[in-house]
Order: sequence, then C-alpha cells, then structure tokens
Amino acid sequence: ETTFLNVRDIMLSNLPKKISILLRQLGRFGDEIGLPVYTVGGFVRDLLMGNPNYDIDIVVEKDGLSLADLAARKLNAKLVKYEKFLTASLFCKDGLRIDVATARTEYYEAPTELPQVEVSTIKKDLYRRDFTINAMAIKLNQKDFGLLIDFFGAKKDLDSKLIRCLHTLSFVEDPTRILRAVRFETRFGFKIEQQTARLMLDAVHQGYLEKVSGQRLRQEFEKILEEKSVFEALKRLSDFEVIKHMFPGVFYTSSMEEKLRALFMFLPWAENFFEKLNRFYAVMYVFLEYHSENLLEEIRQRYGLSHCFVSELKVIKKMIVPLSKMISLHMEFSDIYRVTQSFSSEAFCYVASYLDSQAQQYLKEFLEKVKGTRLKVNGGYLVKNFNLKPGRLVGDILEKLYCAKLDGVITDESEEEYAKKLIESVFSKVPEQ
Ligand code: CTP
Repeated sequence: ETTFLNVRDIMLSNLPKKISILLRQLGRFGDEIGLPVYTVGGFVRDLLMGNPNYDIDIVVEKDGLSLADLAARKLNAKLVKYEKFLTASLFCKDGLRIDVATARTEYYEAPTELPQVEVSTIKKDLYRRDFTINAMAIKLNQKDFGLLIDFFGAKKDLDSKLIRCLHTLSFVEDPTRILRAVRFETRFGFKIEQQTARLMLDAVHQGYLEKVSGQRLRQEFEKILEEKSVFEALKRLSDFEVIKHMFPGVFYTSSMEEKLRALFMFLPWAENFFEKLNRFYAVMYVFLEYHSENLLEEIRQRYGLSHCFVSELKVIKKMIVPLSKMISLHMEFSDIYRVTQSFSSEAFCYVASYLDSQAQQYLKEFLEKVKGTRLKVNGGYLVKNFNLKPGRLVGDILEKLYCAKLDGVITDESEEEYAKKLIESVFSKVPEQ
C-alpha cells in the first residue's frame, strides 16, 4: 500500500521561504556525499495539515553525522553531535533547529539491490515510530525533491483523522506512546483508531506504564498539560485508565472533573499574572489532596516532586474549604491575605479549583490588589522613629498597616499617621515592651 505523492507544491505554498530553501540545501548536501536525505515525523505531518512547525527532523541513510558536519559548515550553524546515537542537532543563526538522525540497515547490502535497500532502510526507520501520521517521509535530494513516501497509509489516516499505531507491540515497546496518542488525538481533533485503542488499554492493564521511569512519564504528561484542550485530554487519559495507573489513589470522579475544569479556567490568567507557575504542580494539588502520607510519598519520589510542595499541600488541603468560602463570600482582602500570605502560585490555582467563575474573579482582584499594594514605611523606619526594638512587634505592626492598606482603610498619605496610632494603642494596652 506504499504511495508516493509529489508534495513539492504544498511545500512551496505552506512553508516559509527560508525553510523550503533550507530543505533544498539539505537535499543538495545529501547529493554531495551521495546519500539519501529525508525530512520525517511531526514536521511532515504538520506540513500536510497546514500547521506551522519549524523543528525540522531529518533522516539520512547510512551516515547522518557526515551530512550534519557538511550542513553545519555550509550553513554556519552550531553543531551538537551525539556520536553514540549517530544523531546531531544543528542550531542555525536565525533560531531554526534541525535534528539529524541516521537510518541504518544491519544487513550487508549488495550493490545491485541498492534502490530496493534504499527504500527499505527508510521504511525500517519509519516503522519504528509511534503513529502512521508521524511516519511519513519526504525525500529532499534534488532529483526527487518533494516526493512524499507513505508506506503505511498515513495520508489516508490523516484525511480520515485517525491516530493509528504501526504494529501491535508499539505501546509495549514504548508505553509513553499511550500519552502521545491522547495528546495528538485532542490536539488535532482526531480519533484513536479502534484496534489502536484496544492495544493501548491492554498495555495499561498489563502494567506497562508502571515499567516506565517517572521522569519520562512526567515529561509526556507535562506536554499534555501544555496543550490547548488539556481538559479534554485528561478526560481521555482517564478513559484509558492512564490517570489511575500513573497516580495510584487518584480517581477521576465528576467532582475531580469540576475542579480540573475550574483550574484550567483560571490557569491562563494565573500564568500571565505570576512570574513562575508550574502546571504540573498545580494539577498535582488537585490530584493528590486526599492522599495518605504513604501514597503521597510514593508519588513524590516517582515523579520527583519537591518536599516543599508536599508540605504545602498538607497544610493547605486542611483549610481549602473554609478559605474557598471566605473568597466566595467576598470577605475583606485583609482576611484572605492573613491566610494566604505564604502561598505559592500553584497553591492559589488549587484554591481557584474550588471556586466558580465569580469567586475566581474576586480572587483575581485580591491578587491584583496585593501585587499593587506596597507600604511606604518599613521596619527600619518604625524602629528609628518610634524607638521600637526590632522584633515581632515591628512585624505585627507592619502587617496591620499592610492589611489596612489592602482594605482601603488607609492611603499613602495617611500611612505614617496610622502607624503612629497603632503603636500608641499597643503601648496603651501593654505598658512594658
Ligand atoms: N517518536 C516515536 N515515539 C516516541 C516519540 C517520538 O515514534 N515515543 C517519533 C515520531 O515519529 C515523532 C518523532 O519521533 O514524529 C519526533 O518526536 P517529537 O518531537 O516528540 O514529536 P512530534 O511528532 O514532532 O510532535 P510535537 O508536535 O509535539 O513536537
């Protein structure tokens, strides 16, 4: 069922000029050293779908490193070689990145069979990949420039919007593909083909996710969290029981789903507002809030979560319900501030997962207000002007001042006056400091 299709015109119309020029150059470099050169993978998929993707993946038969050397010299690009894997990355001046890999056959190649071998080498390389839509190649050598090579019916799957694996052991060989299938399905609005879905579920049931390192799983999971339709993707992961197997003790109930919906509604704003925000941690708050100490520690270790996160989770989960009430009831900013002073950005997202959109709006106003509110006076000023000893009392007064400012009780102008009053009232109650 191998099909060849001339996609030169699609390349010319869909790619920025500098990329199509670059691809032609790479083909000519291949001609110079006498090796077949292809662009493959997600780049080809996105080209045919009309999606921008400027991470160019190149496969060279027999010797990718020679091509990388030559290209680096001619393009004046920075070259990083991974000799052991026969791969290299080129970093061009204009920010483009080109990954070069080598496709090898392990067999002796009789010269008479050369054209045949040439095809079968790239075929083997493509067959090892995850899904049909990621397993197409376009030849770049001058003679065949723009020839799309599709061994596995990828074009048909692209047109009928299907995610299909290439062989029955695909998910056993690389269980992270289970997450990738869901990622591509939701990103492109495709459907995971039936037999593929069955193989995914089998691999999950047979415990293959548990055999993968936490680090690799986390990486794939984090990529899903960056997708636009992350909410739908997590739902699909739960359809395939991935959530349960990746995070023992997490049950994707409808209340969990509501929290996630609220969380992802809040995230875009939060990511813009906070300097640092880690989506993975934000989701972990929602996933792990009911976990026992032991299970929590198990997951912490598997996914390399920080101790800091775990201790914050333990504290905040105890006050999440009253705190979310306080926000829903629009209590004074100072009341909310006293409770949330030391919260991380992810912890605020966790709080938001408990809030409807109106309450989230109030939380945003609160956070904006805190960001925009600074005291004019500082501890040093109080110590010097009121003859106080540095210590807790100074801290308390600063907090009281700050809270008064958050609530709009005082302004820049009345701040010092108010500090004076506060201190006087303290000393009228406690004669000895
Ligand atoms: N690949 C694979 N199995 C994996 C990861 C990657 O077969 N577990 C192959 C696929 O052919 C994929 C290519 O390697 O197209 C490059 O991988 P990657 O850059 O992760 O994926 P892209 O398809 O480029 O997707 P994205 O758009 O998310 O970068």
